Amino acid sequence: LLSWRFMRDVNVGIVGLGNVGSGSLTILTANSGEIARKLGFRLNVRGLCSRTIRTKSLPAGVGEVFTTTDWFELVTHPDIDIVAELVGGTTVAHQVVDEAIRHGKSVVTANKELMADCGLEIWSAASQAGVHLAFEASVCGGIPIHHVLRDGIAADRIQTLFGILNGTCNYILTEIERRQAKFDDVLREAQALGYAEADPTADVEGYDARSKLALLATLAFGQRTRVADIYTEGIRRISPEDFEYAAQLGYTIRLLCGARRSADGIRVSVRPALIPKDAILASVHGGYNAVWVRGAHGQDTFYYGKGAGPEPTGVAVVSDMMRLARDVRERRCQLSSPFAYQTLEPARILPIEDERKPWFLRFRVKDRPGIIAALATTLAEWAVSVDAVLQLPAKDKQNLPFVITVEAAPEHAIRAAVRKMGDYDFMADAPLALPMETGV
Ligand SMILES: NC(=O)c1ccc[n+]([C@@H]2O[C@H](COP(=O)([O-])OP(=O)(O)OC[C@H]3O[C@@H](n4cnc5c(N)ncnc54)[C@H](OP(=O)(O)O)[C@@H]3O)[C@@H](O)[C@H]2O)c1
Repeated sequence: LLSWRFMRDVNVGIVGLGNVGSGSLTILTANSGEIARKLGFRLNVRGLCSRTIRTKSLPAGVGEVFTTTDWFELVTHPDIDIVAELVGGTTVAHQVVDEAIRHGKSVVTANKELMADCGLEIWSAASQAGVHLAFEASVCGGIPIHHVLRDGIAADRIQTLFGILNGTCNYILTEIERRQAKFDDVLREAQALGYAEADPTADVEGYDARSKLALLATLAFGQRTRVADIYTEGIRRISPEDFEYAAQLGYTIRLLCGARRSADGIRVSVRPALIPKDAILASVHGGYNAVWVRGAHGQDTFYYGKGAGPEPTGVAVVSDMMRLARDVRERRCQLSSPFAYQTLEPARILPIEDERKPWFLRFRVKDRPGIIAALATTLAEWAVSVDAVLQLPAKDKQNLPFVITVEAAPEHAIRAAVRKMGDYDFMADAPLALPMETGV
């Protein structure tokens, strides 16, 4: 047994050689010596699969590797111990993961969508098959946030988690803020630079961040949180004026992902929100991600890093491979849950509509006397008190922006008031309501 333990290397196979697959492969080859010294054995790349595969473009030092365009061949190959699913999506990727598990391979994946959708079922199949599952790279690419929740602060009882989980949205918002540029212009530039997809829907509508938050809330609270539980709003309507008004109030705007636990359940949301300029999350610019966690005992901790990109995400993938390689090599049968809790409870989701917060209401109106009085009367009908009215000089009186901030009020009252205000004939555009998150 002793000689087997010291002799045997662990072999990995990668399915999908796009951004993350190629980044992972670069790390596995460029760092192979360092990785072997850390592990005490070698982590070999044994097989590579992608829809199109050019052996000439593989990195030097990749070693003895077979290549295939047929993922089934890779996941059933007898030499492979660990399969990395780096295809993305929920169709082929799901099959790759299922078949790998069925054939006794441990699995590493970067797939937030698949894991948020049916990660628990996949984990259940993996544990029945006696194989390991890891998906660190699925949330915040380069930030080891799974590791933190699963191990680093596992002893704590997490109360609140706030994050900036989508680098594309954060890049767009911080560029709008920096240059007073319009959303559409910044999005086009981000697409040209490769920071945003040709179809940006998943990013700008908040769906990508929602999958990540579903996973983080599950790991933080041990309650299975599904994407459908999460109130989600995108960033398309955020304009340079919103940042100007927010700045006057000492705030900025971020796509804020929040998960809060109370005695009765949890509240989860992904939405653009005002956050104080001196909040630690306000210092997160460009494509960076961050997660701020408050525990009942350990109090506040903060994690920051690149949210995506081939090599930052590749580090997460390969680090997962290294962790699983130790278990595979030791033939460890005690499997620890990648969800941080050995058993998850169903989530008790509380409606966000009941939460009381101050609000920032931005209007665009066709100017005429009596507008403020009409809006204040409507707010009063729902018992909402006006805090301040802000109006910057503007030339276009047919599309005049201004802001009303209101004192803490429940979201259902704000929604009802905004619906009614949207019907006034002086409105040039639907009002925009953003919560002011004072507690971040
Ligand atoms: N990009 C990031 O920075 C990042 C960060 C964190 C997590 N992730 C996650 O990582 C995963 C991969 O993302 P990515 O950006 O690397 O995607 P990508 O660049 O589109 O790469 C996907 C790869 O999978 C291959 N592929 C597609 N269908 C296949 C099939 N049937 N058989 C074999 N290979 C197939 C593609 O081949 P072709 O090139 O021939 O189409 C491509 O090489 C996704 O789950 C994503 O959410 C990405």
